[in-house]
Amino acid sequence: MRFLITAGPTREPIDPVRYLSNRSSGKMGYAIAEAAIEAGHEVILISGPVNVDRPRGAAVIPISTSDEMFRAVHQQVRNCDVLVMCAAVADYKPAKISKSKIKKRVENMSLELAPTRDILASLPKDRQYLVVGFAAETENVEANARKKLQEKNCDVVVANDVSRDDFGMESDKNEVTILFCDGEKKKISRAPKKIVARELVKYLKMFAENV
Ligand code: C5P
Repeated sequence: MRFLITAGPTREPIDPVRYLSNRSSGKMGYAIAEAAIEAGHEVILISGPVNVDRPRGAAVIPISTSDEMFRAVHQQVRNCDVLVMCAAVADYKPAKISKSKIKKRVENMSLELAPTRDILASLPKDRQYLVVGFAAETENVEANARKKLQEKNCDVVVANDVSRDDFGMESDKNEVTILFCDGEKKKISRAPKKIVARELVKYLKMFAENV
């Protein structure tokens, strides 16, 4: 199968030297890319700026902003069988990017933010590929993930509790619950991200073969 995977954070520029971003390390997305290659699948990885080694055998498309990720996903998605949206796309970006460095002042300053485009929600409903979203939540993890499955019209949502220190964001370990659109649910207990990724790729292959 052909996997298209997004990973890492996006950076939304404020001025030539500053940006808004988030704590995504890219480890989970890169582990999924590696696991998919190991299992004999083709992988294109659309990646925000991360400090993780490139998975051998994956074609990597580097991006920085959410708009660049939006364009890259739409360019590549027609040629894939499974789209895994593991990236932590920024929800907001500065409404204006200053061309010159904003000077430091003593007063408070406020920054006007505009919502970014939701890439998942922008995908056509009538499609030939499977769409897998990620839901990073700090509370009511499963209920919020189920809501995302429906609202963002995903086939699968991988729910991730990011309130814990012992796994999740930036960690080498993770624990996830996979929700499928047919009501099926699978839990992968706390394990290194590489192991979680292997299990996830197996479940996605099985699900893709049965839809
Ligand atoms: O930010 P949120 O929790 O809604 O993200 C859930 C899913 O939506 C993730 O798979 C993420 O990659 C995707 N997303 C997106 N475009 C955005 C924000 C999130 O595709 N602008």
